[in-house]
Amino acid sequence: MSEPGEARSILAIETSCDDTCAAVVTRDGEVRSNVVASQGLLHERYGGVVPEIAARRHLEAVSPTVDDALERGGVTLEEVGMVAVTAGPGLIGALLVGLSSAKALAAARELPLVAVDHLHGHVAAATLAPQRLEAPYLCLVASGGHTFVARVDEPARYGVLGRTLDDSAGEAFDKGARMLGLSYPGGPAIDRVASEGDPGAFAFPRARPGTGLDFSFSGLKTALLYRTRELGETETQRRAADLAASYQRAIVDALVTRTREALEHEGVARLSIGGGVAANSELRRRAGELGEEMGVRVSVPDPSLCTDNAAMIAGAARFLEPIEFPGYLDLDAFARTG
Ligand code: KG4
Ligand code: ZN
Repeated sequence: MSEPGEARSILAIETSCDDTCAAVVTRDGEVRSNVVASQGLLHERYGGVVPEIAARRHLEAVSPTVDDALERGGVTLEEVGMVAVTAGPGLIGALLVGLSSAKALAAARELPLVAVDHLHGHVAAATLAPQRLEAPYLCLVASGGHTFVARVDEPARYGVLGRTLDDSAGEAFDKGARMLGLSYPGGPAIDRVASEGDPGAFAFPRARPGTGLDFSFSGLKTALLYRTRELGETETQRRAADLAASYQRAIVDALVTRTREALEHEGVARLSIGGGVAANSELRRRAGELGEEMGVRVSVPDPSLCTDNAAMIAGAARFLEPIEFPGYLDLDAFARTG
């Protein structure tokens, strides 16, 4: 059944990195479909994302992914009321594929378009059903490209309270996994292997940069490098589970400690976590425990809404001002924020 005007669904597209994502979400935050065409295997042999390959693959995958999202969402293009797309930050070539497709889809039917900041998407994931977290809340975002704690007073924006001064938590997972000879992407691999290990087996540093709410992970990464050199290849492999568990514990401790301080400092009683690292089983458990201990409502979105996805982009778009046709035709993607 087609619905009039405002009630119509949002079609969202996200192509900021190596996953081609499309989703259909209703205006009140019900996720009808959330499709991710992962390029993980394509980049695995290089140990990281190759921008040129990512852009070319997005070009092939974007149309079928959108079709799939519409079909699974049970709507036709005629029933879409608004198109949302990630405009940045991310890989510029990859972003341009999603942005051009979104413009073409919107323009063909003269629909309004919403340009969304990828990080706002991670922050807004918790506002979707079934969590439907309402502002004010704090959000820990830990992904491959970014790590920060934000405060959300109104859902259209967020203010960063503290951020990493060097590597992101996701990079720490990915580079650590490489040192341990685990597969790419490293986060899920460490998460899996760590479940068999002893988190107290090795001592790793928990950096405290400055006096504020910032993070630093580069010293931890170096500590793991030295430890694996001391142990040698055979012993590193034999102790991989203990190393992974201890290293993961250090990353999660740093994230949880700073989040606890942010909650104490801001006096906000709601918390969410987002970004790919929020799919980590230890972080999810510890965030829940932190909430119980502090009497804070913690929203931990389903892992499919934590790693890159288009439903979160629609989630943020619900609170933003759409650009009417044809005002968005010359809209540009941006690689970096600020
Ligand atoms: O948000 P995301 O999908 O992409 C970016 O915007 O960067 O985050 C990707 C990051 C990668 O570093 C990946 O290793 C990490 O999230 N990640 C995890 C887990 N799943 C994904 N890190 C730890 N544990 C996981 N289960
Ligand atoms: Zn992301």
